Amino acid sequence: MTILIRHAALADLDELVELEKSSFEIDRLSRRSFRHWLTTEHRALLVAEVDKAVAGYILIIYHPGTRLARIYSLAVSAPHRGAGIAKALLLAGEQAANDDGRLYLRLEVSVDNIPAIKLYETLGFQKFGIYRDYYQDHKDALRYQKRIRRYRDTLQYRSVHWLRQTTPFTCGPAALMMAMHGLDKVYQPSWEEEINLWREATTIFMTSGHGGCHPVGLALAAKRRQFSVEVWINQTGTLFIDGVRSEEKKQVVELVDNCFKREAAEQKIKIHYANITQGELISAFKAGAIPLILISTYLMDRKKVPHWVVMSGFDDDCLYMHDSDPDEGRQSELDCQFIPVAREDFDRMSCFGKNRLRTAVIIRPG
Ligand SMILES: CC(C)(COP(=O)(O)OP(=O)(O)OC[C@H]1O[C@@H](n2cnc3c(N)ncnc32)[C@H](O)[C@@H]1OP(=O)(O)O)[C@@H](O)C(=O)NCCC(=O)NCCS
Repeated sequence: MTILIRHAALADLDELVELEKSSFEIDRLSRRSFRHWLTTEHRALLVAEVDKAVAGYILIIYHPGTRLARIYSLAVSAPHRGAGIAKALLLAGEQAANDDGRLYLRLEVSVDNIPAIKLYETLGFQKFGIYRDYYQDHKDALRYQKRIRRYRDTLQYRSVHWLRQTTPFTCGPAALMMAMHGLDKVYQPSWEEEINLWREATTIFMTSGHGGCHPVGLALAAKRRQFSVEVWINQTGTLFIDGVRSEEKKQVVELVDNCFKREAAEQKIKIHYANITQGELISAFKAGAIPLILISTYLMDRKKVPHWVVMSGFDDDCLYMHDSDPDEGRQSELDCQFIPVAREDFDRMSCFGKNRLRTAVIIRPG
């Protein structure tokens, strides 16, 4: 049997839909989804052709802005199983992801899908967790990952429980709750706490809608909860004021900025008016702190929104982040945990706006 692995084309659409129907009972990719994945970027969609017919496919999605790739789906038609087709698809998919600069391939698989689990383990994927109630039939998913480029065993990480922010403006509180819970399991995140933290730390206005959180506001909120904090800001002026158009609103943002900084001085919270480097973030992390970092979402979604994330690990090549905001439809919650951001991309991602604001809040046990 000759197996040809090639990129999928629109002409494969009907066969892909048929293959999907015969391979999965639930959580199937629709015709519309296939059409989307056939025509979009940031993915590898490969088919295995046997006797001029599609006998299998693999869909790998690239997480924009980071070095993560996820196996979104893989199937081989029943009559062709056991002939090494899935293995060939996976190896070709790995190569495609590698060529795209991806460092990790991740996937989830149902706990009772023994053929697939065996396949992934045979190809060197390592289990790194379980995801409860993941599928439509409520079965759990096992999470696997493989480092597809240069395996180096230098990863240091912290077990930070991931949280989803419940509003578009509470990334700061969600990040802070993850950090505080990561440092002290007695501290319990909750919805009420998320909103309270936002009320304590908000800048009130931002470009549109509710204001996000100010680094010093977050630091003060953490201090009130008995954590020790330090803030880094690479500029001394009022933060987040540029996008605010109305003069009255600007005055409010300025007032809040001044209040936070005055209170920080009273509380003896150290503010370093300097650029925090990757080395400093890593040293703090190694010494037991969990940093909150402000990023611009531009590299991920081209939207240029300021966004707080939590540092959850590092190694020679990447800093790893937990991001409380899954981009609906495209990302799973798993894509939001230990997101590998390559060292060479990190400095571009971790500054915001035309003034290139770089800020971080270092949280330590109290
Ligand atoms: C899982 C699936 C893709 C495997 O496809 P396949 O082409 O039959 O797999 P391969 O022939 O390439 O097998 C490669 C390795 O996988 C493992 N494997 C595959 N089928 C297996 C089975 N029925 N039992 C145990 N191990 C199996 C073996 O380790 C095998 O290596 P080996 O042949 O050297 O022992 C296929 O069964 C399928 O499409 N299932 C339905 C859809 C699905 O579950 N997709 C995965 C979603 S996460």
